[in-house]
Order: sequence, then C-alpha cells, then structure tokens
Amino acid sequence: MSKIKFFSGEEFPLEMHKVRIVQKLSLLPVKERLAAMQAAGNNTFLLQNKDVYLDMLTDSGVNAMSDRQLAAMMEADDSYAGSETFAKLEAKCTELFGTKYYLPAHQGRACEHILAKVFVTPGSVVPMNYHFTTTKAHIVLCGGSVVETPIDEAYQITSSNPFKGNMDIDKLRKVVEEHGADSIAFVRMEAGTNLIGGQPFSLENLEQVSSLCDKYGIPLILDASLLADNLYFIKERETKCRDWSIREIARRIADLSDIIYFSGRKLGCARGGGMMTNNEEYYQKIREFIPLYEGFLTYGGMSVREMEAITVGLEETMEPDMISHGPQFIAYMVDELDKRGIPVVTPPGGLGCHLNAMAFLDHLPQEQYPAGALAAALYIISGVRGMERGTMSEQREPDGSEPLADMELLRLALPRRVFTLSQVKYAVDRISWLYENRRLISGLKFVEEPATLRFFFGRLAPLSDWQEQLAAKYLADLGEY
Ligand code: F0G
Repeated sequence: MSKIKFFSGEEFPLEMHKVRIVQKLSLLPVKERLAAMQAAGNNTFLLQNKDVYLDMLTDSGVNAMSDRQLAAMMEADDSYAGSETFAKLEAKCTELFGTKYYLPAHQGRACEHILAKVFVTPGSVVPMNYHFTTTKAHIVLCGGSVVETPIDEAYQITSSNPFKGNMDIDKLRKVVEEHGADSIAFVRMEAGTNLIGGQPFSLENLEQVSSLCDKYGIPLILDASLLADNLYFIKERETKCRDWSIREIARRIADLSDIIYFSGRKLGCARGGGMMTNNEEYYQKIREFIPLYEGFLTYGGMSVREMEAITVGLEETMEPDMISHGPQFIAYMVDELDKRGIPVVTPPGGLGCHLNAMAFLDHLPQEQYPAGALAAALYIISGVRGMERGTMSEQREPDGSEPLADMELLRLALPRRVFTLSQVKYAVDRISWLYENRRLISGLKFVEEPATLRFFFGRLAPLSDWQEQLAAKYLADLGEY
C-alpha cells in the first residue's frame, strides 16, 4: 500500500488492489441476531456464517486470493505421487527460504502434531515467546510442557514497544540451565505472536535466540504462520532493516531457524501448510509421519489446487503492497478506537484489532469470561463476529482448576484484502455504541464444557437477562439494524 499524502490532511490506508469477485452479505435485525447468538450457546464459533455480517473471527483460510493464485489453481498436477505441483512448491520454498526440504501437511496444527511426536517426550520442556492453543495442546498430549519466556512488555496491553513478541534472552537462558539442555525438546519462536495481539519479534532478537540455541545444541523451530505481518513490522520498525528487501529479511529469518513450519491458511493466503528444513536428520524423522497422518509425501493432505495457490501466495508475500494491507487497516481501526478512549492492544499488531475486554468490562470478574461476553454482545449489536482470546481459550489443569488467562482479548481479525474501509468504520461505530452501553453487559457461564480446546465447541449461558436488555436499548437508540 503506497504511502501517499492526502490533500485533506486526513490519513487512511489506500488499497493497492481492486475487487473483482464479491460475496453477498446479510445484516439481520437485532432480535434475530440475539436469537442466533443464544442458539449458538454464546460461542461465536457456533454461529452460522449466513447470520454474520462481518466475519472477523479469524484470518485463517479466509484471506482474499489474487487473480494469479486462481489462475495457478487451474494448472495443478493431480497425481498421488511425484506431482509437478509439489515440485513447484518445494522449489519456491527453496528459493525464498533457502531450505532443501519441504514436508507437506494439511494445516499448521498438523505440523505441530508431527513436530511434537518427533521432538517431545514425557517430561520435556518447550520454551517459547508465547504459546498458541493448538501448539500447546499437542506438546501437552505428548507429555511435555510449555514455558513462556517473552519480554515483560508482552503482557502489557498498552505499550510503545514495537516488538512485544520478543523473547527475553535471560529468562530463556535460565529455563535452559534450570532444566538442562537435554530436557529442552526445542525452542519455539512464533512470528506475529497471535495470542498477545499479533505482536512481532525483531530480527535482532531472533539472532540472539538462535545463537543461544546453537550454544546449547537445541533446535530452534519457527512458527511462520503469521510471518507476513512480522516481515512488514521488521521492515517498518527495525532501523537496521529499513533498506533490506522483504525477501532479504525472510531469508535471514529462515537462515536463523532449524525448522520452519506454517499454516498456509494464513501465510500464502490459501489452505494447507508444511515444514521446511535443511537438516537431513530432522527431515528423515519428520518424513516418517507424513504418509501416516497426512498423505503421501508429495501432497500431505492438501489439494493440489491449494498447493499451487500457496506457491503463488508465498511469492506474493514478498511484495510490500501485499503484506502492508493487513497491518495498515488494523492500525487504522486501532487508532480510531483508541482516539475514542476504547481500550485496545497497542501498538497495533498484525492479524486483527484486539479489544481489551478486561478494561472494557472492568465491572466483570475474569471468572465470568469478559472476552467471551464481549464477543457475544458485539455480535448481538452489530452482526460482527469476533473471537474470544482469554480464559475461555485456556484449558483446565489436570486437577480441574481453571487458569485465568494473562489477557482477556476480543480479537477482531481483518483477513487480508477482504473488508472495505467503510466496513471497518461500521465496526468502529458499533463498538463505540457498545462502549457507551458497556454497563449493560454481564457475564457468561459454561453449560457444556469439552475437555480439550473447549473454546471451539463449548456452550455458555448468560448470567442474567442482560442480552435482552442490551438488544432493547439498541433497538431504542439505533433501530432494528
Ligand atoms: N500457529 C499460529 C501462530 C496460528 O495462528 C495458528 C492458527 C496455527 C499455528 C495453527 O494453524 O489453523 O492451520 O492448523 N491460527 C488460527 C487463528 C486458527 O484463528 O488464529 P492451522
């Protein structure tokens, strides 16, 4: 997205693409939205997409694809073994990341499953800048545990630190020394750290993590699912990289990592994933599991059409116009809300705009799931679907106790190139109304609670008739829609 000056002095992001295929949306009246939310057990994952106006649940698998990606999909080579499509994708990974081997998997968590099987043994420890839900679940299932060692600012909702996703090197060293290098399965760095608000790490920090891992002989695994945003932020915010191309930054990041895995539902704007490495031993070990869990080594559970789309998507990720769109739209949304005094995660990150539900609903205790309640309330009053990223997204301890999340966030994802600026303005308008009326919102409680990843299928009930009162106030103030 080019940085042009506007005559009016106003500042807003300018799209460097045009829309050529559209999908019709519907905006239900508020009473129907209330009924839909209650039928979904107050869990935005259980809403039907036809009932949603703006789907800001996630950017996963829902980014807009380019004309070049769609064209490439027509050329896919549909063979079980030795597909030409696979060879193209592998060659693109080699070109961009300098890796010899690409191991396909159907999505990011499938990589996590296999990496946990290869590296994690009962009692082993995996330090990381921050966990992701599926990553942690796979490590724990293999008998390992996760230790988070990010810098302290990672936990501060508002900050001016441009790299809140950085690892605290001293904390990491202490964990390694305390457990002994042999007990560390691997160190994991997550690009565009998802659960703390899409916050990046700096190249300098990754260099420090990498040299510590080398010193102790510990593999460094990079989760590159949100690499596109992280690349943009390194170029924008890290002085030494100002004059580097995106391609050069990507290559340096890859050179510092022993294994890179990614969700192609995010990176590459298609659907799929995979792992890359130069290490022969890791390659052999990971390869064992691909035909067992994913599919033959030249498709790994993916459709060949999606693999063609990923190949082009990875190439397009090296274009500054492409990777700046998401972060610039997010920065616009965050700034507009911040100006109105609405609590948001700062600095703006990638992936989406994150509302700080703990401050938005400071009258609710964390045990009543403020981020979940805010997600339900926002859908009822706007048709905007966000995702709870707080205590509901945590797992109970083996003894049944419930850990409270470090943060209670409502994530409003902006899938790349999907929404227009007026739709973002609509979301800001409705969130502003909700903030004025926040005292009407009360809490939720689980009525059905699955043991694993409960946020996906769990059902909750409101603690009072607050949702009916909220809908009635909305109807009186703004009408049916
Ligand atoms: N790692 C990160 C950082 C992710 O954000 C995700 C998915 C995964 C791994 C797993 O990849 O979905 O392809 O299996 N994040 C999605 C989200 C689900 O909505 O944030 P996957």
